[in-house]
Amino acid sequence: MDFFGRNKVTKVNEINKASRNSNNNLGIDLGTLNTVVAKPSGDKFDLYQIPSVVSVKKDDPTAVLAVGEEAKLMLGRTPEDIVALRPLKKGVIESIIQAQALLIKAMEIGKKDGEKVGRIVIGVPGDSTEVEKNAAEEIGKKAGADYVLVISEGLAAAIGAGLPIAEPNGILIMDIGAGSTDLVIISLGGITDIQTVRFGGDDIDNNIVKLVKEKFNVDIGIHEAEQAKISVGLVKNSKDLEVRSIEVIGKSIETNHPKKVLIDSELVSEAVEPIISEIVVALHQVLERLPSELISGVYYNSLSVGGGSQLRGLKERVCDEFEIPIKISDDPMTVVAKGAAIVAAEPRALEPEVRLSGFK
Ligand SMILES: Nc1ncnc2c1ncn2[C@@H]1O[C@H](COP(=O)(O)OP(=O)(O)OP(=O)(O)O)[C@@H](O)[C@H]1O
Ligand SMILES: [Mg+2]
Repeated sequence: MDFFGRNKVTKVNEINKASRNSNNNLGIDLGTLNTVVAKPSGDKFDLYQIPSVVSVKKDDPTAVLAVGEEAKLMLGRTPEDIVALRPLKKGVIESIIQAQALLIKAMEIGKKDGEKVGRIVIGVPGDSTEVEKNAAEEIGKKAGADYVLVISEGLAAAIGAGLPIAEPNGILIMDIGAGSTDLVIISLGGITDIQTVRFGGDDIDNNIVKLVKEKFNVDIGIHEAEQAKISVGLVKNSKDLEVRSIEVIGKSIETNHPKKVLIDSELVSEAVEPIISEIVVALHQVLERLPSELISGVYYNSLSVGGGSQLRGLKERVCDEFEIPIKISDDPMTVVAKGAAIVAAEPRALEPEVRLSGFK
């Protein structure tokens, strides 16, 4: 299978054959919660993941003290003069200097010792403005890459999943991240429509905290909320999926003492519902705009990626609402970086004359 998921061999395979095996080209998914680096290694990828957190001096946010895992440990626990924060909000770069520190760390982890990074391809949310794309490109160059290409995360996901992106049929990618959800339609190797919902997994966690407070008068931490979502999470749908529960410890609002609460799938599905409803509305709008020429492609090639797509019942809910048998990616949190790494090895392959070469 080639770059575009086509079975027939085209000229695309000939491009930069040597560079596909280079260790210097990296695909990077700069996410709100996680930054994932993929480096092609033969037919597979070496993958690295770091939390998208940077800690800086409070009185000088350009003075970066720690990045990634180390900085994440400091979240909510920093002394007065240090602050740990996320350089991206809702998928969009908020602080160039801090995002650059994150990218430098990602590149250091991904590249071989002593070698310079060659090309990097960075996945950005599909609705990023030119200013946002330029910012991502600029930080990539400042971080020391020779060549930086910025592509839509949706397109990267489709490439990473090996979907037939160059065909003139539709493909639907639903990327449910921490900060936002992208709905992307692809045809002939390019994006034909995109809609972004500025809600994702983080909002579900916040809703869980709120609901637990309302129901039990207990304040739980955001990490406990996320853990509950991951272990017992459920999306409301017409099938009878197993209801599970998990015990977490929070702080009683009455006594300020630790208190155990039992969070079950029902509560989590209540917390998920407002976010899923927004996604459903957006998908209705995307399908309304979809030319009928692309509907059968979408029916056969829909894929949900991003950490949030692992919620139980999501597939069933999409089927209930839209009669689309959406597939859930088996590598939802790394597929964007993998697709970006494939493009990093063969960047010319995304140019129109190359990606359409199979039709000539
Ligand atoms: N098994 C799971 N079930 C439900 N949600 C999950 C699961 N595993 C991870 N998540 C959630 O997925 C989200 C992280 O996904 P991902 O890494 O795709 O986001 P991101 O790329 O950092 O964010 P964004 O794309 O919005 O910038 C978090 O909200 C996390 O809690
Ligand atoms: Mg993402």
